[in-house]
Amino acid sequence: MTPDYGAFQLEIYLAGTQGRLPRYPVDSESLEHRAQEVLPPWIWSYVAGGCGNERTQRANVDAFEKWGVVPRMGVGAVERDLSVELFGMTLPSPVFMAPIGVIRICSQEFHGDLAVARAADRTGIPAVQSTLSMDPVEETGAVHQETPGFFQLYMPRDRDLALSFIRRAEQSGYKGIAVTLDTWTPGWRPRDLITSNFPQLRGMCVSNYFTDPNFLAKLAKSPEEDLPTAILTWAANFGQPVTWDDLAWIREVTDLLVIPKGVCHPDDVRRAIDVGADAIYCSNHVGRQANGGLPALQHFPAWWPPRAIRRSCSIRGCATGATSSSRWRSGPPRSVSDALMHTRWPSAARTGWCITSGRCWPRPIS
Ligand SMILES: Cc1cc2nc3c(=O)[nH]c(=O)nc-3n(C[C@H](O)[C@H](O)[C@H](O)COP(=O)(O)O)c2cc1C
Repeated sequence: MTPDYGAFQLEIYLAGTQGRLPRYPVDSESLEHRAQEVLPPWIWSYVAGGCGNERTQRANVDAFEKWGVVPRMGVGAVERDLSVELFGMTLPSPVFMAPIGVIRICSQEFHGDLAVARAADRTGIPAVQSTLSMDPVEETGAVHQETPGFFQLYMPRDRDLALSFIRRAEQSGYKGIAVTLDTWTPGWRPRDLITSNFPQLRGMCVSNYFTDPNFLAKLAKSPEEDLPTAILTWAANFGQPVTWDDLAWIREVTDLLVIPKGVCHPDDVRRAIDVGADAIYCSNHVGRQANGGLPALQHFPAWWPPRAIRRSCSIRGCATGATSSSRWRSGPPRSVSDALMHTRWPSAARTGWCITSGRCWPRPIS
């Protein structure tokens, strides 16, 4: 059953009768302002900034303003159930936490990755842990107990190192790997450039590398003994432009769920399915990797509801596979964020997708 996430508002109102006001902001804009107040400017810039004039970043936000939810009435929803069946798991809500590299430096005790894992475990909302973390995959994996954890892979240039990361994610109990496809080269981010700030080059959030036997074997001296060389070795190994061959290889070497992240075009959706992807993570990296892209949300009508996908499935001989093995248990998706990773794509050994009717999809309000 979905926890009643808003129930604590009663505590707020009751505390108000004793003259106590909420300690934290209760709307996202105020939270953002508070974060800006307390974070050092270089961290704020890194988190808030996008590429170029940040047009794509703004477009992503604006796109959400054009969509809305059409509520249904008369169903006596005393206990609201937002749960979904996804990848054979029951999750309390159709929401995921996106991978945020360098989240570590946003938390007071500098262990943001663990904080995210703990939040996931307490709320039941799965988190995707970035390759670029302060807390290595084994440590975050150990916290993801009740709530399934996902690992985001920035494909290293060296496949042996990639394999090592994948094996470590498997051994740490992660359920799937989100393979980020859109990071071919660092995006042109004026806010970071003007502060000459690239945290990884300062040795931050590369723990997964510095704890990896395969990576360490590339170094003559340990990162503790020679940090500059270790960082340069990291830079030389980071940022493989991922090809469909790479994705097929990942599919081959692991039984974890494989979820390509950064897919927008319908043809790329088909390619991803052809190499055995379990779900599609439609995203433009919030405009941090390239400016000028259309809002990720806008891509959905092109391939959603999955009529286009159905055609592509027939290419794989799965034309009849449009069953709804992972239907929404409690009805249609309620927010556009549902669309993130909620589809179990048909492929040779798998079945169906979860959205069965286009009328379920939230409609534009303008
Ligand atoms: C500060 C920051 C760091 C991020 N780090 C990563 C990362 O390490 N790996 C990754 O795949 N995406 C990263 N992203 C992108 C997010 O995972 C996500 O794609 C983005 O916030 C846009 O949301 P959307 O994908 O739901 O559209 C980062 C975003 C921000 C704002």
